[in-house]
Amino acid sequence: MMRIWAISDLHTDFEENLQWVRGLSLQDYLSDTLIVAGDISDDMAVLEKTLLLLKQRFAHVFFVPGNHDLWIRRDPVRHSVEKFYKVLNLCAACGVLYRPRRIGGLFILPLFSWYVRPEEGEESLYMEKPGEDSTMKVWMDDYHITWPVFEEKATASEFFLAMNMEHDPRFVREPVLSFSHFLPRRDLILSLKRPVDKEGRPYKDPHPRFNFSRFAGNSHLDLQLRAMGSRFHIYGHQHRNRFRIIDGVTYLSHNLGYRRERAFAGIDDKLYFPKLVWTEDDGFSTYPEN
Ligand SMILES: [Fe+2]
Repeated sequence: MMRIWAISDLHTDFEENLQWVRGLSLQDYLSDTLIVAGDISDDMAVLEKTLLLLKQRFAHVFFVPGNHDLWIRRDPVRHSVEKFYKVLNLCAACGVLYRPRRIGGLFILPLFSWYVRPEEGEESLYMEKPGEDSTMKVWMDDYHITWPVFEEKATASEFFLAMNMEHDPRFVREPVLSFSHFLPRRDLILSLKRPVDKEGRPYKDPHPRFNFSRFAGNSHLDLQLRAMGSRFHIYGHQHRNRFRIIDGVTYLSHNLGYRRERAFAGIDDKLYFPKLVWTEDDGFSTYPEN
């Protein structure tokens, strides 16, 4: 029986995260598909090593680049679009999928994306945060991401959404499962419950002046995935696990993230696995909304 699993933000530059990937069973998933919703590493050697480890474990691996994957601090490239194609070429060489494909009874639709800042357009997912530092000097993309001048003054987000338009799964018979790195909706940023740690203490914002929503995603991505008939959308980027059903579409985020985030949530790496999304017998998985 074929199953589909999801994970994001593997960040295997960190040895403990690479160890987590190595710790995934070499037997349990051999008929299965893994969707990786971006952010493995900006280091091409680490990215290659990680993709090959995953390919040893799963029949099919899907991936779309996240922001970290497009950093150019280590690469002799002019800009992050060049890096994007380098990453896709590496995926192809490793047998990792980034184009739509029917798997079992599903149509899997990878969607490329980028975030929209509040000053770039109203499709930004920006929400005001009292006391925020609007200069956002701590946002590392501003040091490691460079874009070319896009045609017709398009933004990076418009560039990637336009690439997705070459797919038209509206007439496919199978249910469509899409995935992206960035968030498609503002209402996914906040948890339904106040987050608490493993002892039940309320989450204390470690970066009170940092406003993530400036870089979270864009709402045109949601219009696109709905226009393409997606019923289930997987995403990453925020390092917050979510399961939410909104207007007929299910959204799931399940990240590995950083060690300190797992420690806060009381997660034992050995007992943490990709999230089951779909099985041939039971269809899409369902979980409590959060
Ligand atoms: Fe990440």
